[in-house]
Amino acid sequence: MIDANAWVTPYLNDLFAQYDSEDPVVKAASYSLFAGGKRMRPALMQASGTLLKEFGVSDDDILPYACALEMIHTYSLIHDDLPCMDNDDMRRGRPTCHKVFGEAIALLGGDMLLNTAHEVLLEMSVKSQAHAKASYNISRLSGINGMIGGQSIDIDSEGKKIEIERLYELQRKKTGALIEAAVTTPFYLSSASEDILEKLREYALHLGLAFQIKDDILDVEADEKLLGKSTGKDQRDDKPTFVTLLGLDAAKEKLSEEENACYEILDYLNSLKMDIILLRELTDFNLKREY
Ligand code: IPE
Ligand code: IPE
Ligand code: MG
Ligand code: MG
Ligand code: MG
Repeated sequence: MIDANAWVTPYLNDLFAQYDSEDPVVKAASYSLFAGGKRMRPALMQASGTLLKEFGVSDDDILPYACALEMIHTYSLIHDDLPCMDNDDMRRGRPTCHKVFGEAIALLGGDMLLNTAHEVLLEMSVKSQAHAKASYNISRLSGINGMIGGQSIDIDSEGKKIEIERLYELQRKKTGALIEAAVTTPFYLSSASEDILEKLREYALHLGLAFQIKDDILDVEADEKLLGKSTGKDQRDDKPTFVTLLGLDAAKEKLSEEENACYEILDYLNSLKMDIILLRELTDFNLKREY
């Protein structure tokens, strides 16, 4: 499988080498960014880049985007764990950022990651119109019509009974949007046609949903040590998830439906002679993962 951590870490190290390592905000941002994590979004970006290789995309072209996206994802986790949001104590196998650095510094550490990501994206965007579109794709999907919008619905839904359609919207934005960014951004640097973009987007939406359903299932079933974060949080906070709304069995059924939809799209892309091996591996990984 792709070793996305080995791919992004040197770039992120070089980036952080420019900052004052004694600054508490830099320490907080590094603490969370270099804690590990699955690096699923960079891995998906590399896999999608590989699929588009014959349309002119290389790993080097997309590396800054993968790093920007991982920084945005990490900031979203630091903020997600704050007492004013999900109030969590463990993340990526360690105490959460605010537990170590305090709330104010953790908040700023998240801000720093968000801002640094956009510095990278802005630097890329002046290179060409294609790069501008790739950068905008990540910015847009991280915003109120994407990840932030999903977090808004998530927080607003605590303790409420919501319709299943609203739950789809929540999951599509909160988790699906950054996964869509990972899968579709390489397209903007390619010469592939728009119908490929549509297929990639469709795949990403199914995978994003499958990814969040799996997260919801793991919240109930996983071993905390393996997972690296606390379990039972969704029930505790009365969050609407596929598990709390439909029950564990129906959630598992929905997960397998979404995974099958992913495989169908990959089969179609394979029939066009595109290299889907890495995307298939990551789709398999999501179904089986225990963390
Ligand atoms: C956790 O994301 C939050 C969700 C969007 C479900 P990941 O499961 O990708 O977390 P890391 O990056 O591996 O820590
Ligand atoms: C977090 O979703 C999604 C984002 C940070 C955008 P969750 O709140 O379900 O993630 P975990 O379970 O804390 O990792
Ligand atoms: Mg949350
Ligand atoms: Mg959370
Ligand atoms: Mg969760």
